Amino acid sequence: MSNPIIIGNWKMNGLINETKHIVSTLLTYTKKHQNFAKTILCPPFTQLQLVKEMIKNSPLGLGAQDCHYANKGAHTGDISPAILQDIGVNYVILGHSERRKDHHESNQLVLKKTVAAQNNGLLPIVCIGETQQERNANNQESIVEVQLKGSLPEQFDGLVAYEPIWAIGTGLTANNEQITEMIQFIRKKLVAQYGENGKKISILYGGSVKPDNVKDIYAIPELSGVLVGGVSIIPKDFIKLIDIAQEFIRS
Ligand code: PGA
Repeated sequence: MSNPIIIGNWKMNGLINETKHIVSTLLTYTKKHQNFAKTILCPPFTQLQLVKEMIKNSPLGLGAQDCHYANKGAHTGDISPAILQDIGVNYVILGHSERRKDHHESNQLVLKKTVAAQNNGLLPIVCIGETQQERNANNQESIVEVQLKGSLPEQFDGLVAYEPIWAIGTGLTANNEQITEMIQFIRKKLVAQYGENGKKISILYGGSVKPDNVKDIYAIPELSGVLVGGVSIIPKDFIKLIDIAQEFIRS
């Protein structure tokens, strides 16, 4: 991998004090270093504005964890891509397995959100991945293929995150062979769907990425970066992920 992208998905974590602590610790790091991996923070909606203010004039990027497919209207409790764009968000995670499970999000819904995000100038990070049961039955490729076909639009300008569900928050990481196989499979499908453009789509890995396994993950050739949950709210460990990425940066 060269020039890794590191995306921190805070999930439903980050009180004001915690947010200030995480971001200020990262800012201390960024001030001391140049040319480090592209790092994007995805706090909860309510902290986006605070994080936006704090990372102003820094190289850190900002993402949200979800959005609605409509730009505005009668959707109580939802946040539109237009609102996200308005406050300066650049990325949005879509179709995360926790949303697919907790909110019964279908591929069809993820597709609508992806299109809406793109139309509002946001870069969607579309998550796909199989359950333990599906892997045990050796169905991971067909599951991921259906998710790719169903969740990605005809014109796709975003990133894909392969996150095997059995590796999310469990401490279990897919091994390099498993990740490599799936990344190659996803790449093949993206090229089949988008031709030359499919070769350029960034593919990330997510699922229990930690300082002690990240180096091996960064070394996987077709991979463009990592989507990090638990470790993204532990600043000293998250910084280690950024630090270890240094040697993979091509100047
Ligand atoms: P994890 O989460 O790093 O805590 O496994 C990854 C994710 O859900 O994006």
